[in-house]
Amino acid sequence: MSFRAFLVTKEENNFSRNVVDRQLSDLPDNEVLIDVKYSSLNYKDGLSATGNPGVTRVFPHTPGIDASGVVLESRDKDFTPGDEVIVIGFDLGMGTSGGFAERICVPGGWVVKMPHGLTTHSSMLLGTAGFTAAACIDKLEQSGMTNESGPVLVTGSTGGVGSVAIKLLSNIGYEVVAVTGKVDQHDFLKKLGAEEVVSREDMLDGKDKPLLPERWGGVIDTVGGDILFNAVKSLKYGEGLAACGLVASPQFSATVLPFILRNVNLLGIDSVQLPVAEKELIWEKLGSDWNVDLSELEVPFNLDTLSTGIDRILAGEMVGRGVVNLEE
Ligand SMILES: NC(=O)c1ccc[n+]([C@@H]2O[C@H](COP(=O)([O-])OP(=O)(O)OC[C@H]3O[C@@H](n4cnc5c(N)ncnc54)[C@H](OP(=O)(O)O)[C@@H]3O)[C@@H](O)[C@H]2O)c1
Repeated sequence: MSFRAFLVTKEENNFSRNVVDRQLSDLPDNEVLIDVKYSSLNYKDGLSATGNPGVTRVFPHTPGIDASGVVLESRDKDFTPGDEVIVIGFDLGMGTSGGFAERICVPGGWVVKMPHGLTTHSSMLLGTAGFTAAACIDKLEQSGMTNESGPVLVTGSTGGVGSVAIKLLSNIGYEVVAVTGKVDQHDFLKKLGAEEVVSREDMLDGKDKPLLPERWGGVIDTVGGDILFNAVKSLKYGEGLAACGLVASPQFSATVLPFILRNVNLLGIDSVQLPVAEKELIWEKLGSDWNVDLSELEVPFNLDTLSTGIDRILAGEMVGRGVVNLEE
């Protein structure tokens, strides 16, 4: 049986993108075959589609690190045909044919049953980006952040992780300050729930100072580089920064001073290899206490329009969450 897929092909050092018909026999022989209803667009999909070797090495390849849909066949006893499910992370869309196709076939250990309160559509409006925003908040709260801690700074705020983080934080009672490089998006960020918006340039002030005035009750950082460490230097005593991204840089220069003088925490966030049991807990929160209407963030795509979205996310021009409808 054939199905439609977005396929990236490599010829010498050029990568071309096409929508093609593929066969089930093109998919890996894993335990759970899924009829994909929605996927979502993440920065990593852009890296995969352009042959970044840290993400995808073998072509032709179908990217898409996220998928939601309905189980068609399963050799894993935890799933039966008809179950609505979510798959994010692990090797999906990296070395394993991903969610930019009408079918995926994955190990049962990657699959989460759709929690009460979410649908195939709303779970992909969240996708890895929304899941990661929630994982950051969860880890910051586990390390002591509360509504009383002070303003929470969100960097890369018009992007997928950042925009969901703002909406979610403001919905659960936090004061949010957003960092953006887009001067024309301040109103959008305020409408999402940011009380204040600061520019990327302002976040680099004091780059050469060992410490900055204490300001943040928590930070969700999606960009890395000097912005990350300037934010660490402005954390309030005992508070933490959740580091999940590297769009500015994977490197930063640091001293131990904020850690030994202000008792602050630098927390790592990984949504990819996080064990599925821990993923389930975050998804359940997103379906219940942290359930939030993200429809204003949706940027709709289908397989035929997806390539433009990939270009936009790679150029840092995407605002909100790209949702890919596989049924269009
Ligand atoms: N650890 C994990 O498990 C995990 C999961 C998901 C994503 N991530 C990572 O998190 C990061 C964000 O992902 P995303 O899906 O939100 O990406 P995205 O939608 O592309 O958003 C990134 C945002 O960062 C800002 N930005 C772009 N270039 C920048 C630069 N040179 N310097 C500073 N800011 C810049 C832009 O926002 P503004 O213009 O508003 O500043 C952009 O919208 C990526 O590095 C991604 O790989 C990690």
